[in-house]
Amino acid sequence: MKALILAGGAGTRLRPITYTRAKQLVPVANRPILFYGIDSMVAAGITDIGVIVGDTAAEVREALGDGSGFGASITYLPQDAPLGLAHCVLIARDFLGDDDFVMYLGDNLLEQDLGAFVDAFETAQGGADPPVAQILLKQVPDPHRFGIAELDGDGHVVSLVEKPQDPPSDLALVGVYLFDPTIHEAVRAIAPSERGELEITDAIQWLIDAGHRVRTELLTGWWIDTGKLTPLLEANRLLLEKIEPRIDGKVDDESTIDGRVVVEEGAEVVGSTVRGPAVIGAGARVIDSFVGPFSAIGPDCQIVGSEIEHSVVMEGSQVLHIPRLGDSLIGRETVISRSRRRPASLRLMIGDHCQVDVE
Ligand code: G1P
Repeated sequence: MKALILAGGAGTRLRPITYTRAKQLVPVANRPILFYGIDSMVAAGITDIGVIVGDTAAEVREALGDGSGFGASITYLPQDAPLGLAHCVLIARDFLGDDDFVMYLGDNLLEQDLGAFVDAFETAQGGADPPVAQILLKQVPDPHRFGIAELDGDGHVVSLVEKPQDPPSDLALVGVYLFDPTIHEAVRAIAPSERGELEITDAIQWLIDAGHRVRTELLTGWWIDTGKLTPLLEANRLLLEKIEPRIDGKVDDESTIDGRVVVEEGAEVVGSTVRGPAVIGAGARVIDSFVGPFSAIGPDCQIVGSEIEHSVVMEGSQVLHIPRLGDSLIGRETVISRSRRRPASLRLMIGDHCQVDVE
């Protein structure tokens, strides 16, 4: 079994952050989103991983290297233009050979292990009426944003439709798919959709129409497509809830650490309260501040005389004398400061290398 991880795409819904950073590398709980996907592949015993890269190829390569840091071996597969998920399968043909594979969208995060999902597919392949593909479904409140499956009374997939205006169900296609080599025939057979992309939903529909069996599983744990601010902050919250508390940096006597908190090596907390779940990155300094629940403060940040909650602050940024910063995503090397002592409550999504002065 191989893996195909998709890490191209422009990340338009996370601009301005994604003008300067691949959306799959935005950190949640101080780790790039993509790392969690790679970890779950390796945990499921899949180490031969192809990564589809686009405009942000250099950055993705730098972050993942040859994969040995994850216990995997990574092959990079450049996609010249974002022509769709099925197009990724098309260009990965040589890498995939005739192996079965998991296709994983690099901006998706799942609570559940992939191992059970892979085992269920392999077991079903050994039984009567073996499936050629397996999709993972999850009920969602906003089905027009996803690929949606319609099932018959026996739970078999009847049709799949990409981002329907009039959704036939609320069962969304999670960004994790299992395929056997039959999918290669499907991706060659389909035509681009109205938005000009080769859709994976159309390729799977082709399999169904050709009489092949597509197995479904309903996901029980949480699943987040992190492509926008609100789900990204939610992913940060859910992952912080699972961190193992650990204080490797310095915390002075005037400071209080409550609950699930990680203070990384070289970080310093002075005259402050950090209330978990929260993480303070390596080399960061938190001075006379309150860092509240669900905050991820990146490496080498400085938080001075401020109050932060439910936010991601990326590496090297400074938050200076801001009475309240919440529900925010702050890029790298950004400075947010306030010159006059007036109350200010900020909710921001700002990119890298910005300067925000609150008057
Ligand atoms: C893609 C797929 C969609 C799927 C979703 C899951 O959409 O096209 O079928 O439900 O991922 O994250 P995108 O998020 O690329 O718009």
